[in-house]
Amino acid sequence: MTNTPSYQNPKVILATTPEEKKKCADVRVKVFVEELGYPPELESLDTMDAIATLWLATCEKVDIKNNTITTIPVGTIRMLPYDEDDTVGVLSRLAVVSETRGMRLGQKLVEAFEDGVKDAGKKAIMVQGVAEKRSFYEALGYTVEMDETYIKDGSPHYKFWKRNL
Ligand SMILES: CC(C)(COP(=O)(O)OP(=O)(O)OC[C@H]1O[C@@H](n2cnc3c(N)ncnc32)[C@H](O)[C@@H]1OP(=O)(O)O)[C@@H](O)C(=O)NCCC(=O)NCCS
Repeated sequence: MTNTPSYQNPKVILATTPEEKKKCADVRVKVFVEELGYPPELESLDTMDAIATLWLATCEKVDIKNNTITTIPVGTIRMLPYDEDDTVGVLSRLAVVSETRGMRLGQKLVEAFEDGVKDAGKKAIMVQGVAEKRSFYEALGYTVEMDETYIKDGSPHYKFWKRNL
């Protein structure tokens, strides 16, 4: 029998309280800064949560060794306005911690986000996504309209779109 923790009962909620929003920011620091090596300023200088709608993913962490079950934050996503067109919602800072990847939390977060975008009356979604995630976004119905990468935060990105929501 293995003693490693397992993760179950994934959930996505709208993050509305300061505590929930802080958990979203903590997940982003864990993934983007600590794991992927982006500069800490990416998060510490980010002020966009003030105007964003945020979602938080949680899981129950089941520690067989200690016989404990704890609900922990494991993922996040946010909706931002698009400066050039207020009928567009911007998908931003999608992250799932490495321990719980492959459990469809990324997909669940995008689905919750899309419901929120539609509820807000938007007609389209744009995301500036890292180039290596192209197949992830394409599988979720996003398309690259200009098949050319550009450098953002030091790595190649595409603009992905989902229109006619
Ligand atoms: C991208 C990310 C959010 C995916 O989260 P996840 O919970 O592991 O993804 P899911 O389990 O919901 O996977 C959904 C689908 O995407 C695929 N997928 C998952 N990660 C992928 C990746 N890195 N590249 C390509 N496809 C991927 C899965 O195989 C699955 O496809 P399937 O339907 O054919 O089985 C997660 O890997 C992550 O946080 N990465 C680091 C941060 C990051 O890069 N964020 C995006 C910035 S643009």
